[in-house]
Amino acid sequence: MKILVSGGTGYIGSHTCVELLNKGYDVVAFDNLYNSKIDVVDRVEKITGKKLIFYKADMLDKESMRPIFEEHKFDAVIHFAALKAVGESVQKPLAYYKNNISGSLNLCELMNEYGCKRIIFSSSATVYGAPKTVPITEDFPLSTTNPYGSTKLMLERIFSDFCVPDPEWSVVLLRYFNPIGAHESGLLGESPNGIPNNLMPYIAQVAAGKLECLGVFGNDYDTPDGTGVRDYIHVVDLAKGHVNAVEKVTSSTGVNIYNLGTGIGYSVLDIVKAFEAANGIKIPYVIKPRRAGDIAICYANPGKAKRELGWEAKYDLERMCKDSWNFTKKSLGLE
Ligand code: NAD
Ligand code: WQD
Repeated sequence: MKILVSGGTGYIGSHTCVELLNKGYDVVAFDNLYNSKIDVVDRVEKITGKKLIFYKADMLDKESMRPIFEEHKFDAVIHFAALKAVGESVQKPLAYYKNNISGSLNLCELMNEYGCKRIIFSSSATVYGAPKTVPITEDFPLSTTNPYGSTKLMLERIFSDFCVPDPEWSVVLLRYFNPIGAHESGLLGESPNGIPNNLMPYIAQVAAGKLECLGVFGNDYDTPDGTGVRDYIHVVDLAKGHVNAVEKVTSSTGVNIYNLGTGIGYSVLDIVKAFEAANGIKIPYVIKPRRAGDIAICYANPGKAKRELGWEAKYDLERMCKDSWNFTKKSLGLE
């Protein structure tokens, strides 16, 4: 089976290429390299000992993607490519709607034209807005609070609408919770440009001495220690979930939606303590005001993915903290 991976050199896409290649799939990836680097292709090949066919192409330039479809016939597309910074999306809504929505429509037009009607889409727990209760199941009400989240919700609806007039379409929507960690080799991971917005990359840069101190955004939430609670999931577990989703998308039609999370909520201070214990490095922190748009608590009920995909997360928080630090150390040349 041959799978096309959009955004294949990105953080989650690259780990997914590894898992697909390890399972014997033929994998073709493309990316415009806006938020990733070409050397990821060599790294994926080094880890797997297999060939990753790569094209530099931009979803906004439909013709740049056409050769990919001319040269290969795909059984399914896993669609990661997107802009993903929540804060930036508030400042640059047009860029987010254009890239994520128009780009995806270009991709889908080519899929239709070349007869590939199966898509696995990277959605996000952000589509649940501020959930009234936890754990969150897939049938919870949906809402968004920023343009990034809106692109995810709109695309969920757009892909679902494809299935209405055309019974051949198969759509799997995967709602990721908070991916962290890195490949155990230290060759793949997340290296954000500039000062990280997300918790784990920030902590790793404090550990590396690149940043002085973590700001904890609020300690007055209605949570056990007052800091925000999230469902952190190892990126390799998340990547493996896509292999199960490929089996689903190729063996069914219509729309199937799954949460990919662990079902466990950890607070910001839990993460700080776990990182310190796993890696033997002190993380200085100060309490800061709440960050605009943050919610108190968010974690998944991952039962549907277990029942229907046969997938569940395996890696614990200690492993997530070790692998995040291992990658950061190696990528900064600290060992
Ligand atoms: P990433 O930025 O590492 O990967 C996305 C890749 O898409 C990048 O390599 C980027 O260069 C590429 N890309 C962007 N626009 C493109 C375009 N027009 N044409 C071609 N390539 C383009 O992000 P990630 O963390 O790997 O996220 C992958 C997907 O998962 C995204 O859709 C993201 O919204 C979604 N997601 C991520 C998280 C998270 O916390 N990382 C959580 C939920 C959902
Ligand atoms: C986690 C917790 C912060 C940084 C984001 C997106 C979401 C999804 C995943 C794509 C919160 C706290 C953080 C810091 C802190 N992405 N924090 N100090 O906000 O849950 O989710 O990434 O779809 O859409 O919104 O993740 O890692 O930014 O924050 O105290 O310097 O850590 O307040 O409680 P978040 P995060």
